[in-house]
Amino acid sequence: MNKRLLTGLQPSGELTIGNYIGGIRQVVNYEKDYETFLFVPDMHSITVPQDPETLHRRVREIVGMYLACGVSPTENHIYVQSEIPQHANLSWILECSAYIGELSRMTQFKAKAEGKKEIGCGLFTYPVLMAADILLYNAQYVPTGADQKQHVELARNLAQRFNAKYGDTFVVPEPLIPKVGAKIRDLLSPDKKMSKSAANPRGSIFLNDPEKAIRKKIMGAVTDSDTFVKFDEENKPGVSNLLTIYACFSDTSIEETEKHFADARYGDLKKEVAELLVEKLTVLQDKFAEIMKSGLVDETLDRGRDAVRPIAEETYDKVRRLVGLGRL
Ligand code: TYM
Repeated sequence: MNKRLLTGLQPSGELTIGNYIGGIRQVVNYEKDYETFLFVPDMHSITVPQDPETLHRRVREIVGMYLACGVSPTENHIYVQSEIPQHANLSWILECSAYIGELSRMTQFKAKAEGKKEIGCGLFTYPVLMAADILLYNAQYVPTGADQKQHVELARNLAQRFNAKYGDTFVVPEPLIPKVGAKIRDLLSPDKKMSKSAANPRGSIFLNDPEKAIRKKIMGAVTDSDTFVKFDEENKPGVSNLLTIYACFSDTSIEETEKHFADARYGDLKKEVAELLVEKLTVLQDKFAEIMKSGLVDETLDRGRDAVRPIAEETYDKVRRLVGLGRL
């Protein structure tokens, strides 16, 4: 059997080019070589407040975006997390063997909890649900951006802990982090990652941004006080970020991109990056609009749900017997 690859993108906001590069693009690149599971982790999204109607809408739209980005509706299992109850069931069993100490060390939890008086328990146990998402299907590879690496490491630890106690049960997953574009940076604060939920949306390029917004945001990107283009993430994070975006969207290497812009000024670099993004994102947005008018999203999700359900049931049943739940 083909090795399995699994990933998901939260429907908690509009997708950014960072989500495309760290998540979706990798699925497009790998889907032919693996049995691929691409799901909508809507249960993760309610770890922070959501408007129910908006969340429902985004569940469909994010799948429309997966497909518009070139993910095949037939080569992959595309499904919604909350439609497969075994995610939550397995998460509970794994939670019982996860340590408060290890969950407290999750940097994303610390960042999201910072300054909050009341911190939801779901925000704390979220990485265990993510481990359940992966282990339920015995996925070998988990393509993500750098920000999710720590969570995949937790999934590895929980799998190994379970296997040590109950015998070989779970495949121990490995993260697949892209060499280029593992952390696309915020255009206005290049020390931070670009995020769907950033306080200032002018630092993020959303996949559905109109042409004018794309140009304005890229032209307003923070660079530095030098005048030469060079890839140097430590000393020139803003310029390096623009070079990375260009390399990813033009399917070229950083070295080639750096050469291409060797004599360019920052203004020229920005203009070309903006032009490329407008060209690529306009095509994507047209496809998205077409897909949303068709019945493809629901068809795909129904088929995905039906295909993965027996796999989830089988794993969960095995696990609950091993730990002694219910009747044999
Ligand atoms: P999420 O929804 O925050 O992000 C979706 C994917 O996009 C990647 N990503 C980035 N990559 C490069 N640069 C950036 N600035 C950037 N921002 C986001 C993320 O690394 C991710 O690959 N917890 C996950 C969703 C999830 C999941 C899973 C993923 C739930 N269960 C199981 C894999 C396997 C999340 O919040 O991703």
